[in-house]
Amino acid sequence: MVKRETVQVRFLGRDQIDVEFELEAQAIKEIKITAISGCSGFEQAARGLMAQINRDQSWPTVWTGADHAAILLRELVLRAVGRFQLPYQESELCHCRAVPTEVVDRAIISGCHSIESVARITSAGTSCGTCKPDTEKLIAYRLNERLI
Ligand code: FES
Repeated sequence: MVKRETVQVRFLGRDQIDVEFELEAQAIKEIKITAISGCSGFEQAARGLMAQINRDQSWPTVWTGADHAAILLRELVLRAVGRFQLPYQESELCHCRAVPTEVVDRAIISGCHSIESVARITSAGTSCGTCKPDTEKLIAYRLNERLI
């Protein structure tokens, strides 16, 4: 039996991708982009990922890269297999500076890959510092190239 599913990833109203895929048993029969917008690097990387999935008929186990395109496409695959879950679930990550988790996550996707750079852009972690381990976990999760 063929099962059809859809998955979406959105980032700041800038990079966006919607895909539709068909599963038969564990094999991906076909995956296609139904909507995409963003920079040319994002679109090119997304088309490369789709081509690889269609060729292999399976999800990649690793997706390398630390730019926003690679991070968002890893999120796409993790969402498709039902495994996307940020390692910090509260809405506010830094209580001293009232910095939402979403703001820290956006900074990481945009290229802040150290505690210091996240602090510079968001001010998270610039007072008592107890939120720094949670920021580290978010960075490690977003940069983890292993998918399955
Ligand atoms: S909770 Fe982030 S600096 Fe105190």
